[in-house]
Amino acid sequence: MSTPRARIIGTGSFLPEKRMTNDELAKIVDTSEEWISSRTGILERRIAAEGEVTSDLAAAAGLKALAAAGCAPEDLDLIICATSTPDLVFPATATIVQRKIGAQKAKAPAFDIQAVCTGFVYALGIADQFVRSGMSKKVLVIGAETFSRIVDWEDRTTCILFGDGAGAVILDSAPGGSTQGILSTHMHADGSHVELLRVTGGVSHGRPEGFDWRHDALGFVDMQGNEVFKQAVKAMGSVAEEALAANGLTINDVHWFIPHQANRRILQATAKRINLPEDRVVTTVDHHGNTSAASVPLALDEAVRDGRIQPNHLVLLDAFGGGFTWAAALIRW
Ligand code: UT7
Repeated sequence: MSTPRARIIGTGSFLPEKRMTNDELAKIVDTSEEWISSRTGILERRIAAEGEVTSDLAAAAGLKALAAAGCAPEDLDLIICATSTPDLVFPATATIVQRKIGAQKAKAPAFDIQAVCTGFVYALGIADQFVRSGMSKKVLVIGAETFSRIVDWEDRTTCILFGDGAGAVILDSAPGGSTQGILSTHMHADGSHVELLRVTGGVSHGRPEGFDWRHDALGFVDMQGNEVFKQAVKAMGSVAEEALAANGLTINDVHWFIPHQANRRILQATAKRINLPEDRVVTTVDHHGNTSAASVPLALDEAVRDGRIQPNHLVLLDAFGGGFTWAAALIRW
């Protein structure tokens, strides 16, 4: 019997209602609409409401993906949630999502993965292995974040970049001979650059003296933006080429390139590096900002729903994030 192939049969996404424009940010930190839009391409981002947590966004995106796939929550036999902003240290956000979408009856495994902005593509790669091995058939894969809760709202170099949101897909097992589905996934990490992009606090560092456990946050996003920019373009370019070469395909075969939406200039530089015309790059960073693990599935859902992605199109997902981590997935739609 040939190896089954994982196919995306539904996508969904969710954004919090509150929009924050660049002009609003300019009232909080020393910046301007002109600087943010010209250096990043971001025009606005969404901010979760008070009390609205990552699992709320994740569950809403998951339910939309289930509806698009025509599946019931109890059909799921695996849930993976990629997030760096979990509701709680434990249990995993995926288990909270399982309850919120009413999928607990199936008692399927549910867990989180943490690879920052690469999280969704890592999660898709893991889900693909579960389907290929025959362990799972229908899988919900989510990328969800509330980065507004971990940015330093006094640091103009980071707070202008990030936004909140969630995106999700449903995978189904297709027969091995199927031409449609995930062709391959490629994942990498290099832990030598932890200090270039990180959150400054964390559980196992313990609580500093004078820590007020009721009010103090666990740390803030800290980034050497300039250096991260260069590394992101290099890594996303090389993993895109690796994915194409592994399948005997070239950049001319790609209909849609869906990179992590960090900064419009990163998207443009990566496309240039791999010789891809910009009109084949799905770009949503203007209205989402950088939503970390949610950015690739948010952009994917947008391009599916507006009809750009059509059956048999070749779609290349590509991401880069803290760690550093980077990954690509090549999909025949
Ligand atoms: O999601 C994971 C991956 N994350 C990323 O990929 C982010 C990658 N990095 C970037 O997107 C860009 O590096 C930034 C948008 C963060 C910064 O843009 P840049 O063109 O690399 O600017 P820079 O850091 O080289 O700073 C240039 C100048 C500096 O002033 P001086 O030293 O030249 O006087 C900064 O202080 O821009 C200043 N600056 C700002 N000015 C107005 C930095 N942030 C701001 C701001 N408003 N918000």
